[in-house]
Amino acid sequence: MCGIVGYIGNNAVDEILLSGLKSLEYRGYDSAGIALNDNQGIDVFRAKGKLQNLTEVIKAKHISNRQVSQGIGHIRWATHGEASIENAHPHLSNDGKLVLVHNGIIENYKELKDELIKQGYHFFSQTDTETIVHLIDREYKRVSSLEQAVIRAISMLKGAFALCIMHHDEADKIIAVRKNAPLIIGVGKNENFIASDIPALIGKTQAIIHLEDNELAIVKKDSVVVKSFDGKILNKPVETVNIAQDAISKQGYKHFMIKEINEQPQIVRKMISTHMSSPQQSIRFENIDIEELIENIDKIEIIACGTSLHAAQVAQYMIEDLCNINVTVEAASEYICKKHLTNNKTLSIGISQSGETADTITAIKQAKEKGAKILILTNRPDSSIVRYAKYVLPLNAGIEVSVAATKSYTAQLTALCLLSLAMAEKQKNTNPEQLLPIKQELLMLPTKIEEVIYSSTTIKKCAEKYNGYKNFFYLARGINIATAQEGALKLKEISYINANSYAAGELKHGPIALLDNNMPILALLPQHSKTFEKMLSNCEEARARHAHLIAMTNSEINKKELFDDTINVPEISEFLSPLLFSVPLQLFAYYFADSLNLDIDQPRNLAKSVTVE
Ligand code: AGP
Repeated sequence: MCGIVGYIGNNAVDEILLSGLKSLEYRGYDSAGIALNDNQGIDVFRAKGKLQNLTEVIKAKHISNRQVSQGIGHIRWATHGEASIENAHPHLSNDGKLVLVHNGIIENYKELKDELIKQGYHFFSQTDTETIVHLIDREYKRVSSLEQAVIRAISMLKGAFALCIMHHDEADKIIAVRKNAPLIIGVGKNENFIASDIPALIGKTQAIIHLEDNELAIVKKDSVVVKSFDGKILNKPVETVNIAQDAISKQGYKHFMIKEINEQPQIVRKMISTHMSSPQQSIRFENIDIEELIENIDKIEIIACGTSLHAAQVAQYMIEDLCNINVTVEAASEYICKKHLTNNKTLSIGISQSGETADTITAIKQAKEKGAKILILTNRPDSSIVRYAKYVLPLNAGIEVSVAATKSYTAQLTALCLLSLAMAEKQKNTNPEQLLPIKQELLMLPTKIEEVIYSSTTIKKCAEKYNGYKNFFYLARGINIATAQEGALKLKEISYINANSYAAGELKHGPIALLDNNMPILALLPQHSKTFEKMLSNCEEARARHAHLIAMTNSEINKKELFDDTINVPEISEFLSPLLFSVPLQLFAYYFADSLNLDIDQPRNLAKSVTVE
C-alpha cells in the first residue's frame, strides 16, 4: 500500500531511487514519482500508472548529468484522490522548497486542510498527504529547523504515516518518520537509504535499522540519528539481513506467481523437516512451548484477511477436529467492529503473510488489550504485527512478490497443520497413535505437490478451454469450503472473473438460480471425504440445470456424462486435502489469466500489503 524510498550519497540518485521503487512495485502501481534535491533546487518527476512510465519521463528530461546527492521516491496505491499526475507523490510546498512522500492515511486531514487554506496555502491535489507538506512548511517558517518543524507537525496528525522529507535549505539530510506504517533505514558507507521494505535495499546494503512507531531518523550521508517523537536520541541496533538478489528475481519464469507456485514443494518440505524430525517424535517449534500456549485456554480465535483468512478457516476444522477446542475465525476488518468475548482464556492467532495488514494489526492489538495470548504466523518476522505477539511462528516461504498469494498460503496451511498436531499431542485425552497416519502422510505431501505441478499441462488446457466465461462457481464441502474460496479468490484477483464459491449444500437454497450453460462450476471432490457422495449429488443438480462441470478430484469417478472435464489430484486424506487441492487451483487461475494476457503479478486495483483499514 504505497512504497517509499530515500537516498543520500554520491551515487546516481535517480537510478537508486528507481531500482528501489522497482522492488517495491508490489505495494502499488497507480502512479510513481521521485524528487531530487541539489543546489539548483528541488525537481519533482511524476507519472500516472506503472513505474515504467516514470522511467520514460525521467529519460526524456536528461537529468543524469546533474550533481544531485539526495532524493526521495514513491509508488502509489490510491486512497484519497484518483490515480493521476496531480495526486502522485512527491508533493511540494507552495514555495517549492519542501518536498515529501507518504505511505499511510491522515485521518484528520480535512480539518487541517481547511485551516491551512484559511491561512493562504494552495492545494493542487486531492490527497491527504499534501496537508502534511503545508503543515510542516508552516511550522518550518516558525522555527527554521526541519527537524523541529517535522516534530511539531506530526504531533498534529492523526492516522498512519511513514514519511521521507527533504528541504532545499537543509540539503544535508532527509528526515524519515514512522507511525503505524513500516519504514527501515539502510546503512551504507558514505551513503544511506530509506525504504518501506527490505527488497528495496537488496544489493545496496545489508545493514538495516528498523524504525519503530513514533520514531524519526535524521539521515545524512555519513550518519543516522534516530529519535523518539519527543526528541530523545535512541540507541538503535544495526541488524544484518541476508537476502539474495535472486529472492526477488523471476529466475527465468514468466511471472513471479508461477515461480512462487513452483517453490511450494521445497517450502513445505523444509517446514515439515524443521518441526518434525520423524512421525514418531513430537512436533516442536523453536520459541513456542505448546503446553504453555494452550494452558488455561478455553477458546481459540483466528484473525486474518484475504488468503490468510482462508488458511484460518482450514485451521478451524483441523484444530476442532484434533484438539476439541472451540475455534472461531474472524475477518480482521469485522473483528474490530463488533463486541467479541475475548479474554485471558483466549488464544488469539493472527495470520498475516506481510505482517503489515492494518486490519489484522488493529484486531490483534484489541485482542491483546482484552488479555488474550497472542500467537502470530507471518512470513515476515521483522514486521509490525510481531510486536504484539508473545509467540511467533515464522513461515519461511521467502519473499512473495506476486500480489496473488500462493506459496505463503501453502506455508500457512502447513504451519497450521503442524500446530494443530502439536496441540493435539499435548492434549491429555489424545492417543498419539491416532495422529501417526496424518504425520506419516504429511511427509509425502511435498512429492504430491510436485506431481500436481508436473501435470500442469492438463490444468493449463482446461483453463484455456474455459477462459471465455465471465462467471464461475467453485463448490466444496467441509474443510475444503475455504479451499474453494481461495481458488475463487485467485481467479477473481488475476483474471477479473466473477468467481464465487459456495458450500455445495447451500446451492439449492438460492445460488442455483444463477445456473445455466453460461456458468461453469469447478467442484472439489476429495474422495475420502465424508461428503463425497453428497457432493456428487450437488453436481448432478447443477448438471440438470445445464451448468458445465469440472471435477477436481483424487477419485477415479467414472462419470463422463456428469463432468465435462477432470483435473486429477494425487491420493490424499480429507484432512490434508486443502494443502494439496489449493495448488491445482492456483495453477488453474494462473493459466486462465495468462491465456488472457493479463498483468498477473500486478493485477489492477490491488496491492500486496494492505496498510490501511
Ligand atoms: C491474496 O492473494 C491477496 N492478495 C490478499 O487477500 C491477502 O491475502 C490479504 O491482503 C492479507 O494479506 P496478509 O496475509 O499479508 O495479511
